[in-house]
Amino acid sequence: MDIKSLIEKMTLEEKAGLCSGYDFWHTKPVERLGIPSVMVSDGPHGLRKQNDEADHLGINDSIKAVCMPNACATAASFDRDLIGSIGKAIGSACQHEQVSVVLGPAVNIKRSPLCGRNFEYLSEDPYLAGEMAVAYINGVQSQGVGTSIKHFAANNQEHRRMSSSSNADERTLREIYFPPFETAVKKSQPWTVMCSYNRINGTLSSENHWLLTEVLRDDWGFEGYVMTDWGACGDRVKGIEAGLDLEMPSSGGVNDKKIVEAVRSGKLDEKLLDQAVERILRINYRYLENAKPDTPWDLHSDHLFSAKAAEECMVLLKNEDILPLDKNDKIAFIGEFAEKPRFQGGGSSHLNCSEITSACDAAKGLNVAYAKGYDVEKDMTDDEMIAEAVGLAKSSAAAVVFAGLPDSYESEGYDRTHMRLPECQNRLIEAVAAANPKTVVVLHNGSPVEMPWIDRVPAVLEAYLGGQGVGIAEVRIIFGDANPSGHLAETFPKKLADNPSYLSYGGEGNEADYSEGVFVGYRYYDKKEMEVLFPFGHGLSYTDFEYSDLKLSASEITDNDILTASVTVKNVGKRAGKAVVQLYVGDDESSVFRPIRELKGFEKIYLEPGEEKQVSFELSKRAFAFWNEEIHDWYVETGDFTVSVGASSRDIRQSAKLKVISTVKIKRHYTENSILMDIFSDPDAMRKIQPFISKLNPFGATAGDTRSETASEAISDDMNRAMMNYMPLRGIVMFSAGAVGPEVIGQIVDLLNSD
Ligand code: BGC
Repeated sequence: MDIKSLIEKMTLEEKAGLCSGYDFWHTKPVERLGIPSVMVSDGPHGLRKQNDEADHLGINDSIKAVCMPNACATAASFDRDLIGSIGKAIGSACQHEQVSVVLGPAVNIKRSPLCGRNFEYLSEDPYLAGEMAVAYINGVQSQGVGTSIKHFAANNQEHRRMSSSSNADERTLREIYFPPFETAVKKSQPWTVMCSYNRINGTLSSENHWLLTEVLRDDWGFEGYVMTDWGACGDRVKGIEAGLDLEMPSSGGVNDKKIVEAVRSGKLDEKLLDQAVERILRINYRYLENAKPDTPWDLHSDHLFSAKAAEECMVLLKNEDILPLDKNDKIAFIGEFAEKPRFQGGGSSHLNCSEITSACDAAKGLNVAYAKGYDVEKDMTDDEMIAEAVGLAKSSAAAVVFAGLPDSYESEGYDRTHMRLPECQNRLIEAVAAANPKTVVVLHNGSPVEMPWIDRVPAVLEAYLGGQGVGIAEVRIIFGDANPSGHLAETFPKKLADNPSYLSYGGEGNEADYSEGVFVGYRYYDKKEMEVLFPFGHGLSYTDFEYSDLKLSASEITDNDILTASVTVKNVGKRAGKAVVQLYVGDDESSVFRPIRELKGFEKIYLEPGEEKQVSFELSKRAFAFWNEEIHDWYVETGDFTVSVGASSRDIRQSAKLKVISTVKIKRHYTENSILMDIFSDPDAMRKIQPFISKLNPFGATAGDTRSETASEAISDDMNRAMMNYMPLRGIVMFSAGAVGPEVIGQIVDLLNSD
């Protein structure tokens, strides 16, 4: 399609019209020119295509579809191929249903366990979230339909989501909140990006030129179109100028008129409008030219696939020799989630499922008995339900309590206010554990919960929101038909108050200050040496893995080189299983505050008993760099780094050191406020001011010698040295009693700043 000549034929009104939706889910057609309308639909965990004229909050039904494990779960798989396959299945469903773009993945960082939408987000770690986003996008887009990575950016709370300003410094945004988007754009070019509702440092994302053009397009090279989140559009004209292309849903023509007026009055350059139209049409035609409406969609086989996927995601948090259970034993399944599992979150991602398999369904034919234990809907238990559960637990070889968060506890639209499970469920778990020491807890939740009973139960399986086949996966893992291999994509703190954003999460009024900076998740807990309930990256298996022989390809590199790190992993247990090999990098010493270690590589590998494999990782500049606010770029400070490999962020098995040398010279800018220590530590500066160096000792050569005893006691040598180190150039005038005048300081500053 010759898009440019198509645009030449369009009227101003038609062009403005194309930049907002036709209705909730379609772009506008231009019938006069034969430009068709295309549909976009929610995901990200399956296709949520609404039937008719519809709101997006779920009052009207969507078509039957398959709910895959939610992002909270899939991230825990640490399995790029798995997420890629989920993406493929969803992309293929889009083709069947004639949907051009699926609205996902959602990649916002989990800043606090309280975010109501954490179930839809991937991780607290930007590297992991980025890698998983790439896999998902590549999977969907391999089917000839697009994705919309969302919500760009810093949309980490639901509270006041349409007005709150996420206030964070540039380094925090670049190191923590942007990379999932950046990695996805650079490695997989999502067809579209969805800008978030919130403001960033005061400016709405939908009006943010820095965000949508300078960062997204100029820095990262994004080629598709930017659409708003539903209703996120601020000033439409500013939006076009900022790089926002499509407003969704329809503005009822109101904003189209504003665009037309702005062009007519000369306020808006028509070229910017043409550019937005071109971007939208290019993507729409990319879909139209690849449309395959006769693509088959077998819901049942996707259902079975979703169960297989869930198996790869579940995280065995604790297991004191109790799991897997023996199929020959009588086992109690307790808790309503065994019969009616919670497997997806509420809001725009909520699917109308083709079928659901609970653990009770999946355990048919086994010696399993069920007791309800609590009522999810009423969020209560009573003595009778507890007594029934306790009785059943006592008469069984082991009890499995299916617990978790009811829908009302976490959802799009609002945040949680605490991190607890429902009181009735905690009571049930305590009672069952007291009745039968062989009690396993299986959790269904989109975000961490406190576990007051953790010392009284020997095993906990985190199922997250595992999709509609969740019960099949649970039963296979519980009875050992599958070996768990998920690892946490987030830290489980012991209590909410431990979380780094605790003091400022949610913000005051519309101002949400990200005061913890880059210390999000394990970056904070590790630095604080804080005990956590379960660390980032943690996950047990029914077998054991041994790590050995970590080798680095060099002991010294420059920041332009690629380092290869390899490690050998061996299955030393009796069962086949999958290890998630995690590689972390830490800067041993830095002039800025940095985390102890940060995830920079991971691989999931399958090993038969006794088998070993070598796993290799390639590390480039980014693995060692921080975002330098002075040069507004990634920067590696010359020095020593530690590369460590392990089974979690707190289970490091192998470490090695290397030196990385920076090839980037940062020209420091000096003023009369620059302190001597900074000048003395800069060889370049010292060279430039060689003739003046003797003048930079304001206390004179004899200082210390002539002081009385009391004076030396008052001002020790250490203090003297510190005074010198921290002395600003301007201070020398006063401390040298005029021997060095302000004009000399001026000359020194000029020399320091000379080329
Ligand atoms: C959500 C988006 C979603 C859109 C369309 C918004 O409320 O934030 O994630 O894609 O609605 O349903």
